[in-house]
Amino acid sequence: MKRSKSNRWRAGCVAALALGPVQADEFTQQDLERWNQEFMEVVREGDRLFHGGFPSKNTVSCDQCHPNASNTHPETYPKFQKQLGEVVPLWRMINWCIQNPLQSEPLAADDARMTALQAYIHWERRGVKLEPGKH
Ligand code: HEC
Repeated sequence: MKRSKSNRWRAGCVAALALGPVQADEFTQQDLERWNQEFMEVVREGDRLFHGGFPSKNTVSCDQCHPNASNTHPETYPKFQKQLGEVVPLWRMINWCIQNPLQSEPLAADDARMTALQAYIHWERRGVKLEPGKH
């Protein structure tokens, strides 16, 4: 999709250039290992929540209907979901399942448990081609 960049974005770039030569983001092998370790910890927490670790009011868990995150299709988001009647990001659909099949309170978008559930679901579907909007 071709689109002209916003003026605000341009102004930000000009301001950044005015600060001097742009430094490449530098990181070491040690940084990479630490970041990966932190990421995998969040994936494992999502795995735990997905497989019975979510304190659902009716003890139903995600994996009962989505074994190993099957049929979660994170690569198709954002998309129109008929249950919600509009185009939504993945976390809104996770909340739909928390509220309906699990009969529990929805999570805030930036709740660490929501991040963990998304990390786990995306991890299970890594390598799958992005197809936003697809049904
Ligand atoms: C009782 C069965 C059931 C349980 C338990 C359940 N879901 Fe679902 N889930 C569904 C149904 C039904 C849909 C809607 C399918 C559709 O229309 O795409 C769905 C859809 C989804 C989708 C979107 C799938 C798509 O193709 O767009 C995600 C993501 C999802 N669930 C995650 C979860 C998570 C995370 C949990 C646990 C917190 C959970 N589900 C628990 C039945 C369940």
